[in-house]
Amino acid sequence: MQKNEIKIGFVTVSDRASRGEYEDLGGPAMQMWMTQALKNDWTAVARVIADEQDMIEQTLINMADIEGCSLIVTTGGTGPAKRDVTPEATANVCDKILDGFAEQMRLVSLKYVPTAILSRQIAGTRGSTLIINLPGKPSAISECLEAVFPAVPYCIDLIEGAYLETDDAFIKGFRPKHAIKKK
Ligand code: MTE
Repeated sequence: MQKNEIKIGFVTVSDRASRGEYEDLGGPAMQMWMTQALKNDWTAVARVIADEQDMIEQTLINMADIEGCSLIVTTGGTGPAKRDVTPEATANVCDKILDGFAEQMRLVSLKYVPTAILSRQIAGTRGSTLIINLPGKPSAISECLEAVFPAVPYCIDLIEGAYLETDDAFIKGFRPKHAIKKK
């Protein structure tokens, strides 16, 4: 990894997409959203994997510890179905759980669909990496990211990850004044 290179991880968790039975729409939707949200140059590390807890954990560990991603977003596997294990895998690899992210995502999502309460999505940190679970539906990706992204750059500052800068016309990140870097 080049020094100062910003990496962002995108994990699509879906049995069917991983078998090629349908196109992965979630991964590209997350990348597109991030392209609009961030002014920084960044590199994507993207994976499409099955709903297997071990594989999800290994993917998150690799993206955090080896690839050095400052942020990892996952899509899918957050519901109550038997194969849905993304939150369990995420919890197992995180040092700290940030309950406020899940609370806010579900609160905002309920304005769109009553079934938002079915998502067990969580967020947490592993070292200098922030990991956020998103539901599998592509529309849920922007609905949830809009709800929490204002706090993401400062969260990543606090865990000593990359300094992310938002495109405020798309989504406005919030930092306390003392944390804003002068150019
Ligand atoms: N959240 C938002 N913002 N928009 C949605 O359409 N779908 C819900 C919920 N959260 C939804 C949402 C539904 S129907 C389910 S089953 C759960 O997310 C879990 O989805 P997943 O298992 O694909 O992660």
